[in-house]
Amino acid sequence: MSSVPLSFPSLPHKFLFLGCFFYFAILQVVNAATPTINVGNISKVEDAAYFRLYYGQTFKVIKNGLDGKSYLLIQNNTRMATRTKYCTTRIKSFVIPLSNYSIDTVFFPVSFFELVGLLGNLKGITSELVASPCVLKLYREGQVGIVNKTDPGQISQFSAYFISNTDQSQACNYATFVPFGEDAPLQRAEWIKYLGVFANLEIRANQVYDTIKENYLCLSGVAANKTSFKPIVAWMEFNDGVWSFTKETYKLKYVEDAGGVNVDDSVNKVTYNISIPDDLEEFHAILCTVDVVIDETYVPDPIAYTVSTFLQNTNVEDHSCFAFLENQSLWRFDKRIQNSTVLVQDWYDGAVSQPQLVLADLIEALFPSGNYTTTYIRNIAKGEGVMAISPEMCERESSTALDPVVVAC
Ligand SMILES: *[C@@H]1O[C@H](CO)[C@@H](O)[C@H](O)[C@H]1NC(C)=O
Ligand SMILES: *[C@@H]1O[C@H](CO)[C@@H](O)[C@H](O)[C@H]1NC(C)=O
Ligand SMILES: *[C@@H]1O[C@H](CO)[C@@H](O)[C@H](O)[C@H]1NC(C)=O
Ligand SMILES: *[C@@H]1O[C@H](CO)[C@@H](O)[C@H](O)[C@H]1NC(C)=O
Ligand SMILES: *[C@@H]1O[C@H](CO)[C@@H](O)[C@H](O)[C@H]1NC(C)=O
Ligand SMILES: *[C@@H]1O[C@H](CO)[C@@H](O)[C@H](O)[C@H]1NC(C)=O
Ligand SMILES: *[C@@H]1O[C@H](CO)[C@@H](O)[C@H](O)[C@H]1NC(C)=O
Ligand SMILES: *[C@@H]1O[C@H](CO)[C@@H](O)[C@H](O)[C@H]1NC(C)=O
Ligand SMILES: *[C@@H]1O[C@H](CO)[C@@H](O)[C@H](O)[C@H]1NC(C)=O
Repeated sequence: MSSVPLSFPSLPHKFLFLGCFFYFAILQVVNAATPTINVGNISKVEDAAYFRLYYGQTFKVIKNGLDGKSYLLIQNNTRMATRTKYCTTRIKSFVIPLSNYSIDTVFFPVSFFELVGLLGNLKGITSELVASPCVLKLYREGQVGIVNKTDPGQISQFSAYFISNTDQSQACNYATFVPFGEDAPLQRAEWIKYLGVFANLEIRANQVYDTIKENYLCLSGVAANKTSFKPIVAWMEFNDGVWSFTKETYKLKYVEDAGGVNVDDSVNKVTYNISIPDDLEEFHAILCTVDVVIDETYVPDPIAYTVSTFLQNTNVEDHSCFAFLENQSLWRFDKRIQNSTVLVQDWYDGAVSQPQLVLADLIEALFPSGNYTTTYIRNIAKGEGVMAISPEMCERESSTALDPVVVAC
């Protein structure tokens, strides 16, 4: 789409250049304490590394550091809202609060919208491949329709169209939302503030994040004090005859915060081809040091993945030294799935917006109390199965906000 910079008859010259918006916006934040300027409700980014918020009197600016996009959000009751429209590859403008929006459901964590309380304005999804019971319910009731994302005419009817795959050409109403790009669990969760800004719901977004963060830090504080023995944890994945250990920072962080230690750093970089005897021998030795395994192996049908699938994949005959088997601690994060032709896992949705629940799960995996029901992970060593997500599981009026779960700490 081409740029449509309209004129600003009522604005001073310094607005002629886009950069000035940011300059002006920063000034407003600096001056926020002075009584003459009312910036309304604001969110401050505390932990996230990849987005920034700036506030003006009648507008706000979001800068997404992962894809370099900026969004100029103009309050709907201002003159600027009717006069200003930006649509370049780097900056787009939106009139807020958004009256409606749609979502490209591919790997998109819709739970963030639920926590802010924005499902009432959701009008379109690109498929029913979502892990949220309440979105499925809205769809079944006809409140939310399926839109054809390759048809520009259908997408353009929404005030905003949110996507998480930034690797595509983007029309004027596209807005990217990429919490997955952050390196730590809390940083990912803080992206709720990014959405709050589009709806003037900063206060709500701040509350949700504060609640989640406080609970997360409390749980990790208790876990850190748990015991002198720190279990060794491996996130590992089997693909095409090769096992590999995860390098994803947020997963390693979860283990540390849950009071465990990750398998040695040198191991994290290596892959092991089970058809190569030397590789297999080394892989076997590493597994003998591990107390808890999280098997991330992707399979289209998680119901069929059991402990014997795991053992088959390892190709190790003598597993007598596997402490994680003896202690029955072999986990997968596909506990909550939608039963459809394409696998949809809540791990990529609800688990991103509520990391305190994932942390509580991991603490239970590392230090079993036998008294906590995990949300996202299941212990296949104990034969624990999956839970199919369905519209009936939506327990609230869909348009009301979802409250974050606070785990006893
Ligand atoms: C500030 O937040 C309160 C509570 O959420 C809301 O009632 C009010 O409209 C908000 N004000 C602005 C300017 O967004
Ligand atoms: C601005 O948005 C609010 C909240 O959606 C709405 O009530 C109001 O009518 C809108 N105002 C204008 C001028 O569009
Ligand atoms: C979606 O829109 C494109 C472009 O208009 C069209 O070619 C395609 O057939 C549509 N797909 C469906 C399932 O309607
Ligand atoms: C979304 O809101 C805009 C602006 O109010 C309106 O023009 C459009 O028709 C709405 N679209 C849908 C699908 O409700
Ligand atoms: C952890 O232990 C230290 C030292 O015993 C104590 O000061 C601290 O309060 C404990 N933290 C938690 C969260 O229990
Ligand atoms: C694993 O090793 C076998 C035997 O050397 C080889 O045929 C296969 O291509 C290797 N797999 C991968 C993914 O490299
Ligand atoms: C099993 O876990 C307990 C702690 O929960 C630990 O004391 C024990 O050593 C573990 N057993 C094995 C075989 O690792
Ligand atoms: C998934 O759906 C299929 C067909 O609708 C059904 O046979 C199967 O039992 C379902 N599985 C679960 C776990 O609900
Ligand atoms: C299990 O949890 C419940 C509620 O959290 C608590 O009342 C009970 O004492 C716990 N039981 C054990 C054995 O820890």
